[in-house]
Amino acid sequence: MEAKGKATLTYGDGKTLEMPVYGGTIGPDVVDIRALYGKTGLFTYDPGFLSTASCGSKITYIDGDAGVLMYRGYPIEQLAQHCDFLEVCYLLLKGELPNAQQKKEFDSMVTKHTMVHEQLARFYSGFRRDAHPMAVMVGVVGALAAFYHDSLDISNPEHREVSAFRLIAKLPTIAAMAYKYNVGQPFMYPKNGLDYTSNFMRMMFGVPAEEYEVNPVLVRALDRILILHADHEQNASTSTVRLAGSSGANPFACISSGIACLWGPAHGGANEAALNMLYDIQKQGGVAKIGEFVAKVKDKNSGVKLMGFGHRVYKNYDPRAKLMQETTREVLDALGLHDDPLFKLAMALEKVALEDEYFVSRKLYPNVDFYSGIVQRAMGIPVSMFTCIFSLARTVGWIAQWNEMISDPEQKIGRPRQLYNGATRRDVVPLARRG
Ligand code: SDX
Repeated sequence: MEAKGKATLTYGDGKTLEMPVYGGTIGPDVVDIRALYGKTGLFTYDPGFLSTASCGSKITYIDGDAGVLMYRGYPIEQLAQHCDFLEVCYLLLKGELPNAQQKKEFDSMVTKHTMVHEQLARFYSGFRRDAHPMAVMVGVVGALAAFYHDSLDISNPEHREVSAFRLIAKLPTIAAMAYKYNVGQPFMYPKNGLDYTSNFMRMMFGVPAEEYEVNPVLVRALDRILILHADHEQNASTSTVRLAGSSGANPFACISSGIACLWGPAHGGANEAALNMLYDIQKQGGVAKIGEFVAKVKDKNSGVKLMGFGHRVYKNYDPRAKLMQETTREVLDALGLHDDPLFKLAMALEKVALEDEYFVSRKLYPNVDFYSGIVQRAMGIPVSMFTCIFSLARTVGWIAQWNEMISDPEQKIGRPRQLYNGATRRDVVPLARRG
């Protein structure tokens, strides 16, 4: 990288250190601090990494102030309108949109990997029927490593490619199996004649006793939801996958670690938490109770957050939330649920929050999770499956970022330092003499 300038740090008794400043194609410049500790004995301090770029990346760009999201330079609004999810997978993995032939080959390769090893199905019977499907996903995806000893050499591009296909193809099968196990229905095998998202819907809602009828409106809506969730720069779960991958861990273990991190309610678990929040307000009286709920959110002692609102990077409307709201309206209309009370409640809550100084002053807007639960529930997807579907969609982003990390000559094992403020050196008093 060519330095575009320098930053000078003054520290100690007037000593200075000059550090190079690099610029990307768009977005903030970075100060290269790699020499800081070696030259000054100082660490930087940045819990939560608010001001820290962990890597260089060409995959996704977010302008939080403008509410812009682009995958490989294409605005998310255009991708959601013109592409299907597998086209976006191709784009994220390879950097360009596929032509018709490339798409045909890519889709066919994914289709051929959708089945799972029959022995893998036996992992499910080890779980309680009421296990949260995310617990199942973390376990079963990690267990995939036990089936592919032939392709775990991450320095081998062919091994990385086949692992990418296996993960993208099998996550829907594994997620649908987690749902079927939970409801006590038989697992549905994938059907190669169906497209990716139709296949997933059939594995979720089809039964062996009858033919499953694909609803194209719901399939298109879910396919768009997968596109909106596919990647998002260095978010917590992507950073988890990169960190796990930096040790040389195999792709299945890395993706399993990403699923575990995404499960958190502050991250991907927020869509489940947001819908449960709306249910609670509905139970207490619905729109009439919004004022009371918002007052609780503003009271720091309540510990109550407006789930689906706020974002580390977006200080404007999350463009995905706008697209999600549109998709929700389309699905509700298609299902004849124009007056869905939860959707009306969500829009009323959003309106109150966007006019309230507490949220305006903190630049808190709806994020991708605020509406996604409402549309998925309307499609018959149970609340506990929302984050599984987020994991299914984000797997391609995690793999693209993991691949980029492995191919990046500047990357090495991630090993942050700390500001130690614990006990200084002291001697052990043997137990017999301890008071
Ligand atoms: C995702 O990183 C990504 O890109 C994630 C994601 C992706 O695609 O990978 O976009 C997916 O995780 C979306 C976010 C989903 N999470 C939620 O909806 C949970 C609710 N949101 C918050 O927990 C919070 O907004 C975060 C975690 C999303 C962001 O937290 P930050 O950046 O650390 O912000 P903060 O907690 O420092 O908040 C700043 C202020 C604080 O108040 P003050 O201390 O200034 O008084 O805003 C308040 C916070 O208390 N605040 C909220 C709030 N979010 C922030 N207050 C009430 N409700 C909220 N939702």
